[in-house]
Amino acid sequence: MQIGAPVHSSVRGPDGLRIDRLGLDRYAEVQALNRVIFGDDRVIYRTDRDDLVLLLAMVADEAVGYKVGYRETSSTFYSAKGGVLDGWRRQGVARALLDRMEAEARSLGYLTFAFDTFPNKHPGMTVLGLAEGFRVTAAGYNAAYRDYRIRFERPL
Ligand SMILES: CC(C)(COP(=O)(O)OP(=O)(O)OC[C@H]1O[C@@H](n2cnc3c(N)ncnc32)[C@H](O)[C@@H]1OP(=O)(O)O)[C@@H](O)C(=O)NCCC(=O)NCCS
Repeated sequence: MQIGAPVHSSVRGPDGLRIDRLGLDRYAEVQALNRVIFGDDRVIYRTDRDDLVLLLAMVADEAVGYKVGYRETSSTFYSAKGGVLDGWRRQGVARALLDRMEAEARSLGYLTFAFDTFPNKHPGMTVLGLAEGFRVTAAGYNAAYRDYRIRFERPL
């Protein structure tokens, strides 16, 4: 199942890149990518979130990346997790996923877009956040992940 009317995205990526918004019936496709990228079966703790948005980046028939987000508060949309397959990195796929996720959040009426990342584990999202003009709004040591976590936000 694909959800809703197409939301405009102006960001380019590899030739043939398409970002699909999925229904929960296709969650297994997100899980499969998550397993390859993070080596973990769990994508997010709960899928019964308000305004859950699942995005899959496709090149031809291959799923090359994903992004998952949901309502955090009435005004803030939270991008919870995402990743791109190794062989498809540095071609603009994550930027296209971010752009589309922000467009979805905007069309749902949110005012702020937020994500957390672990800069030691995954430096790419930190560089991308700064390059995209996000502001750091919180930072601290996360005992569960044994790493520092920083939060990025920007208005939609
Ligand atoms: C982080 C990740 C999603 C980036 O995906 P991507 O498709 O390669 O990113 P893009 O090509 O859209 O990169 C856009 C910009 O982000 C920055 N960037 C992305 N990856 C980077 C890296 N490894 N190191 C430094 N900067 C990086 C660059 O500024 C890049 O622009 P440029 O290529 O023109 O220099 C991908 O590396 C990944 O899946 N990593 C493992 C999982 C992960 O970190 N997930 C996010 C957890 S919060």
